[in-house]
Amino acid sequence: MSSTQSHKKTRIGIIGAGPAGLMLSHLLHLSGIDNVILENRSRDYCENRIRAGILEYEVAELMRQTGVGARMDREGSRHDGTNFLVNGELHHIDFQELVGKHVMLYSQHEVVRDLIAARLEAGGEIIFETSDVAVHDYDNGHSPYITYTANGVASRLDCDVIAGCDGFHGICRPAFPAGMITEYDRVYPFGWLGILAEAPPSKDELIYANHEHGFALLSMRSPTISRLYLQCAPDEPLENWPDDRIWDELALRLGHDGFSLNTGKIFQKSVTAMRSYVAEPMQTGRLFLAGDAAHIVPPTGAKGLNSAIADVAILHRALDTYINKNDDTALNNYTATCLRRIWQIERFSWWMTSMMHKFDNHVPFDARMQTAELNYLLTSSAGQMTLAENYVGLPLH
Ligand code: FAD
Ligand code: PHB
Repeated sequence: MSSTQSHKKTRIGIIGAGPAGLMLSHLLHLSGIDNVILENRSRDYCENRIRAGILEYEVAELMRQTGVGARMDREGSRHDGTNFLVNGELHHIDFQELVGKHVMLYSQHEVVRDLIAARLEAGGEIIFETSDVAVHDYDNGHSPYITYTANGVASRLDCDVIAGCDGFHGICRPAFPAGMITEYDRVYPFGWLGILAEAPPSKDELIYANHEHGFALLSMRSPTISRLYLQCAPDEPLENWPDDRIWDELALRLGHDGFSLNTGKIFQKSVTAMRSYVAEPMQTGRLFLAGDAAHIVPPTGAKGLNSAIADVAILHRALDTYINKNDDTALNNYTATCLRRIWQIERFSWWMTSMMHKFDNHVPFDARMQTAELNYLLTSSAGQMTLAENYVGLPLH
C-alpha cells in the first residue's frame, strides 16, 4: 500500500467492537497482550445498538471476575427462573432449584458500554468509524496486517494474529480461501417483531409463550421499560403493525389467569429474521473468527451474545498460551474447541425455536410432535433440568 500515511504495530488486531471484540480486547489486556480494535461504526452507534438481554451465569461471572461487572450487579437483575405459557397455562421453571444457577438480565448495549469504558480507561485503543478494512498475509507464514482508512487517512496495522469479531456481515469470513469454509444453515419461515416500550414489566421473570397465533416473549430492560416480541413473517413490513395491533396481539398471546399486560409508549420497533448458521473451520493461518462472524442462532434460547463471549474466552486462553508461553497447540485447536460448544448451542436454540413457534408448513404429525415435546418439558423434571442446564449456560470452554 504505497499511499499508507499511518503505520501502527500491535500483537492482536481485532476487527469489530461488538461484545466479542471488546471482551477479547479486555481479556488480552489483563494478560498483558497489546491489541487494537478497528470498528466501522461510531462509538455512539455501538453503545446504543439494541440487541440481546440475557447473560448466562458464567458470562456474568466472567464480567465480575475481570472487573466489569459492577454496573451489571447494580442495574441488571438476577433471574432465578423463567416461565413457559402453553395452552393458556403458565409453568415456572426454577433454574436455581434445578441446577443451582441463575442468569442476569442486562442489555447487550450496556455490556458494550461497560467494556468500551474499561478499555479506554486502561489506555486501550479502539479506532471507531474506520472504513475499507481489509486483512492481508494471514495465510502464508508472513506477518499479517490490516489496512483501513481512519479520518480520511489510509492506515496499516501490523500484528501477529487477526481476530475477526466483525459480526455476520463482516469482511473476515469472506476473506477465507475460496472453498475452505463449509456452511451449515437453516432459515426459519418467520421472524420476530420486537418492541421497547415505556411500560413497567408485567411479570418479574420472562414469559415464553406458545400460542395458536404464534410465539410471543415478554422480557424487560428495567423497572420502567418492557421488551416484547411477537412471531411474524420474516419480511414483515412494520406498517402492518400499528401500536394498537401490537398491544392487542401481545395481550392475546400472553394472556392467562391473573395476568394483565402493562402498555405504554412504544419507542423502538424492528423485525429480525431467524436463522441458524455455522461456518467451519473458524480459523485460517493467523486469522481467527469469533462470535456472529462464525455462527448465528435464532434468539429463542438467548444465546447469541453468550456464545460470542464463550468463543473469545477460548481464543483468549489460546492466545495467552501462544504469546506468553510460546505454545500454539491451543491456538491450532481453536476451531475444534469452539465447535464442540457451538453445536450444543445451535441444538438448544433450534430446539427452543422448533418447540415454541407456529410453523405454517407443519403437517398434523409435526404438530403432535411439538405438543409431545412441550408436554415432556412441562411435566418431567429431567426435561426441565435439560432446559435449565442449557439456558443458564454450558461451561465456557
Ligand atoms: P456484533 O455484535 O455484530 O459485532 C460486530 C461488530 O463488528 C459490530 O460493531 C460491527 O459494526 C463491526 N463490523 C462489522 N463489519 C466491520 C468491518 N468491515 N470493519 C470494522 N468493523 C466491522 N441475541 C440474543 O441472544 N438475543 C436477542 O434478543 C438478540 N437480538 C438480536 C437482534 C438483532 C437485530 C441482531 C442483529 C442480533 C440479535 N442477537 C440477539 C444476537 C446478538 O446480538 C449477537 O449474537 C451478538 O451481537 C454477537 O456479538 P459479536 O460481537 O460477535 O457481533
Ligand atoms: C431480550 O430480552 O431481548 C431477550 C430475552 C430472551 C430471549 C431473547 C431476547 O430468548
